[in-house]
Amino acid sequence: MPLVSMRQLLDEAAKGGYGVGAFNVNDMEQIQAIMEAAKQTNSPVIIQASRGARQFAQDKFLFHLILAANELYPEIPIAMHQDHGNSFETCKSAIELGYTSVMMDGSLKEDGKTPSTFEENVEVTRRVVEFAHPRGVTVEGEIGVLGGVEDGHGAGGSGLDHITDPDQAVEFAERTGVDALAIAIGTSHGAYKFTKKPDGSVLKMDVLIAIHKRLPHTHLVMHGSSSVPKDLQDIINQYGGKLKETWGVPVEEIQLGIRNGVRKVNVDTDNRLAITGAIRKVLWTQPEKFDPRDYMKPAREAMQKVVAQRMTEFGQAGHAGDYKPIPITEIAKGYADGSLATRPLVAAK
Ligand code: G3H
Ligand code: 13P
Ligand code: ZN
Repeated sequence: MPLVSMRQLLDEAAKGGYGVGAFNVNDMEQIQAIMEAAKQTNSPVIIQASRGARQFAQDKFLFHLILAANELYPEIPIAMHQDHGNSFETCKSAIELGYTSVMMDGSLKEDGKTPSTFEENVEVTRRVVEFAHPRGVTVEGEIGVLGGVEDGHGAGGSGLDHITDPDQAVEFAERTGVDALAIAIGTSHGAYKFTKKPDGSVLKMDVLIAIHKRLPHTHLVMHGSSSVPKDLQDIINQYGGKLKETWGVPVEEIQLGIRNGVRKVNVDTDNRLAITGAIRKVLWTQPEKFDPRDYMKPAREAMQKVVAQRMTEFGQAGHAGDYKPIPITEIAKGYADGSLATRPLVAAK
């Protein structure tokens, strides 16, 4: 099975009324963990790489690992996505490598830190759409700005600083033609999202619902969607870690989002926590160990467990075999003839 267009994967998710986790990868073990979780739960997958991941692993290593996953798990549809592209050039290079989807995060300037203007965001995102669609590649845009900084990327500050304005979301979707739209509703990247279990004063599900009502055909994306489970924090701290008390996005809020147009749910931090906890446990309890396989195997298993759980909670489990992947050359024709301009309605619940 070739790599699948993320647009097809999200259109199918909309028809089925479920969400799809988009999990970040930097190395082979993380890709293996996702693929085993997908096999275990029979789920379609979105694998995503940030700019930092592409630099860390080198483009060719990472991309060929994805191709290996594709060859080894032919029954699983895989979309390969550039996470938080900071410029037209970053997105172009991912497309030229063979990614089937890119995020142009024009909510920030090219430095990945400074919020951009609305017009700058529209301009660069539309340019990416114009390059990507004739090649059958999906585009995710972002309107509003998330909080926090991950690996030098992000505006910093609280998630409440730049909440998406629903009117701007509508204008942005119309003027750019993006396939999927990331919105800011109070979440941040990383482990420190909320100082207590979030309520409506800090996690703006009402804004998400308002945007979905205005844009019922646009696939919404929730970034910063790790739940930062207490048990994963505890394992790290039990074995010498020093995490401060923190809260993430409760899974039931993500599920509410999925009932209101969210089709892509970005999760990285939870997997980082699971991996780190498992490695710490081995090194702390068995200090004589020095073969990396002794800690990488439990780390991979810990990530698989988190991913499989999220796949089940987001509803994508069981849907890997629902549809035949459309080659991206055919998808390109759909953009050209206008048939991909209208998105399927969210399934009634
Ligand atoms: O958007 C942030 C993701 O968690 C990726 O983080 O840039 O540190 O690889 P990274
Ligand atoms: P978390 O830091 O909550 O896992 O968010 C990941 C993300 O949004 C990647 O784009
Ligand atoms: Zn993100």
